[in-house]
Amino acid sequence: MEKKNFYLTTPIYYPNSNLHLGHTYTTIVADVLKKYKQAQGFDVFFTTGTDEHGQKLQESAIKAGKAPLEYIDPIVESAKELWKTLDIDFDAFVRSTDKIHEKNVSEIFTKLYEKGEIYKGSYKGMYCVPCEAFWTESQLVEGNKCPDCGREVSLSEEETYFFRLSKYQDRLLKLYEENPDFIQPESRKNEMISFINEGLTDLSVTRSSFDWGVKVPFDEKHVVYVWIDALSCYLTGIGYGTDEEKFNKFWPCDVHLIGKEIMRFHAIIWPAILMALDLPLPKKIFGHGWILFDDDKMSKSKGNIVYAEPIIERYGMDALRYFMLREFTFGQDGNFTYTKMLNRINSDLVNDLGNLVSRSVAMCEKYFGGIVPAQTELTELDNDLIETAITTRDRVAELMDKLNFSMALEEIWKLVRRTNKYIDETTPWTLIKEQKEERLKTVIYNLLESIRIISGLIKPFMKETSLRINEQIGYSDYSYEDLTKFGLLKVGTKVCKGKNLFDRLDVDKELEIIIQKNSELIELRKKKNLGASQVKEEAKESELITIDDFAKVELKVGKILECQPHPKADRLLVFKIDIGDEVRTIVSGIRKYYSETDLIGKKVIVVTNLKPVNLRGVESNGMILAASDDENLSVLTVLNDVKEGSEVS
Ligand code: ME8
Ligand code: MG
Repeated sequence: MEKKNFYLTTPIYYPNSNLHLGHTYTTIVADVLKKYKQAQGFDVFFTTGTDEHGQKLQESAIKAGKAPLEYIDPIVESAKELWKTLDIDFDAFVRSTDKIHEKNVSEIFTKLYEKGEIYKGSYKGMYCVPCEAFWTESQLVEGNKCPDCGREVSLSEEETYFFRLSKYQDRLLKLYEENPDFIQPESRKNEMISFINEGLTDLSVTRSSFDWGVKVPFDEKHVVYVWIDALSCYLTGIGYGTDEEKFNKFWPCDVHLIGKEIMRFHAIIWPAILMALDLPLPKKIFGHGWILFDDDKMSKSKGNIVYAEPIIERYGMDALRYFMLREFTFGQDGNFTYTKMLNRINSDLVNDLGNLVSRSVAMCEKYFGGIVPAQTELTELDNDLIETAITTRDRVAELMDKLNFSMALEEIWKLVRRTNKYIDETTPWTLIKEQKEERLKTVIYNLLESIRIISGLIKPFMKETSLRINEQIGYSDYSYEDLTKFGLLKVGTKVCKGKNLFDRLDVDKELEIIIQKNSELIELRKKKNLGASQVKEEAKESELITIDDFAKVELKVGKILECQPHPKADRLLVFKIDIGDEVRTIVSGIRKYYSETDLIGKKVIVVTNLKPVNLRGVESNGMILAASDDENLSVLTVLNDVKEGSEVS
């Protein structure tokens, strides 16, 4: 049978050496979708890239005293580095400055001009430099601010070429009507329809006020404005203009995955351009929501950024992927908090999945020397588990078709929890006492076989974890078809208990650590504005430290003067501590162990030269040292009285 094809894209990102968790959201989703479609037997192509032309970049390069590409190249490298860290398996990375892409843009522009779809005119209007967009008076917010980014716009007039967007009004509405799934989610479709109904105007598609862009071939004082350029990257990725066979194989695109703020460009301008070019239209545009932090949009200027790297370094790629896709409904805004993430790792990954695997494999080792036993007679209880196990795949498929990743994972976790419940229902430890060996064999087999199916189901989401499970249960083959069959794990296979899939996290302790790590990265990037690769290099530490390294840490005896609960975080206490020559505010996550009054007047050990961090709105200037084991935590103090401000060395 001929292979079915599937083409998906992420946005073509602006070069940004500080890509944060919000940016990584679409690429993670795209990678999961790719792996999922591949598992289903599709031949998948995935395009991403960087959108490198335009006034903003030209200005940044000038500010940095560099030629545009000299400025952009290292930034693009850092983006690629991040995608590598995230294990993003794209097939094409299109830089809009690639020669072949520039040639495509130039030809597309000429073709549109020759067909009369583009004409010359002049444009006067309010222009937002960062967004590279003209706005009409009625679109502006608060008088003279850009409706997208909120920054001030300025009056600008220039000769420009226009694309006849207005002419596509009816065809676009018809497109949405005939293809109800073209714009997803539904709410965004309504936004697009009302935007069109207000009347489309022709679109300015060139600029002459700067020259960092693809030159209009027949009028070189103009450069092609960013959207025709950027959107066409989706064509270049699959060989437009170079590899007709590949292009015809993958075009039209199955899904463009984008953030909601660029919906208009993808759902209105892009199909109109494609109509003008007589090219088939993409099947779906999916506009996801924003990942918010403290209920606010993450932004460099606000400083409320969450980076993916520290999370991956500490909890692993799979935990991050699982959390992002499970926690947030694709299509809606979602508020990120570390607490939510840590709790979910503990509940879903450690308790549900991790325990299931380790308990089951351990029982197989204990009762059967690690050899997979044969299933004999089945009871109604077994059949209920088996039924759930072999029908999950198709319920997941239905949800994945709607790009409902969260519910798809929930569906898989229903099976995980069902299987855990099966252990409680069958109580293997009493079966062994009662010497019901045949029954015990069946139970253990059913557990391992359900785990095999679970492992296959999670593979597109968590490849590494899936492989580790397969290793433990001695399974290696995997096909989509095998997920609806029960009984494939071979009797006699050797299982082998490995390390825990996920380690239980002490939420309070981890919160402090991860927030600190993230702040350090923010600081580092702010200071150096380096790409991810360079930062990683710098942060790399050898295992042992020298006395000089240790001497960098300034420790002092501090006397606790005041203590208040943190206004926003119920794990944190806010201290005022006298460290001799000054009184410091220090936030500490020890509220579980000490009340507000417990430590007043006590002398504690304080790290006094830590970079300040903002902990949910309160700036902390130092750290109180404490010792802890699994259950207890004790703040360090001095044995005999010494003055506050005394150095500790
Ligand atoms: O718009 N949560 O590029 P870009 C979720 N070059 N998604 C977020 C986010 C957040 N907090 N912050 C950013 C561009 N994004 C154009 C695209 S496509 C032909 C040209 C997402 O680098 C955002 O929604 O500004 C967008 O989809 C993507 O990051 C890239 O944004
Ligand atoms: Mg943007």
